[in-house]
Amino acid sequence: MNSERKVKLAPSLIAADWSRPLDVINELAQAGCEWLHWDAMDGHFVPNLTLGPMFLAALRPHSELHFDAHLMLENSGDYIDGFLEAGADSISVHVEGNPHLHRLIGRIKEGGALAGAVLNPATPVELLDAILPELDYVLVMSVNPGFSGQKFLPVAADKMAKLRRMRDEQNLQFLIQVDGGMSPETARVAVRAGADVLVCGASSVFIAGQPLTQSVHAMRQAIEAALQDEVEVTR
Ligand code: DX5
Ligand code: ZN
Repeated sequence: MNSERKVKLAPSLIAADWSRPLDVINELAQAGCEWLHWDAMDGHFVPNLTLGPMFLAALRPHSELHFDAHLMLENSGDYIDGFLEAGADSISVHVEGNPHLHRLIGRIKEGGALAGAVLNPATPVELLDAILPELDYVLVMSVNPGFSGQKFLPVAADKMAKLRRMRDEQNLQFLIQVDGGMSPETARVAVRAGADVLVCGASSVFIAGQPLTQSVHAMRQAIEAALQDEVEVTR
């Protein structure tokens, strides 16, 4: 039932103040965030350059948060071992551009991390049909990846609702993660559609001039409101 449903927050470090990453991570943990989202971009798969495994490895000894790596790389398979060694707790790879997705998911799981597959906004959920039972989570992109601060695309809500139905029908356990354009308003839409993990960047958690605890609190309130909506609908 809904009362047992727990929704996690996964702030994305690319939207944080990079001059003091450890302080930010500690503040997020204190504010009650469960996951920390690491966006790895290579300037080819997406037009931006960000975090490699070295950065994750440097901060790993200083935090007990769940480190969640989202690989937006042309050759994701070449970097999975690096992120595993760095200490990632979960790693997701895109369906697009990875013809041997099954192999990559297997490698992530063998390495002891949770394995996720990512869908860009234009990619249908049906592409995951054959691999769904192998996945620990599905990441539904609600923006075209590359940058923080973009607008939530409503097509993501339809896709999450579909995934949730597939999960129920097939009696599977994977989590549904959503990434892009989260705010208290869109979080409510996403949670009602079935999101279990919300990636939060510049539109929700890292807002200039606003303390992180205040941003996190606003997101929690939106999540609670969405869960309450659901209880009322099913009552
Ligand atoms: C976008 C990244 C996201 C991004 C989210 O390509 O994958 O994780 O940082 O930031 P917001 O929530 O601002 O869209
Ligand atoms: Zn991401």
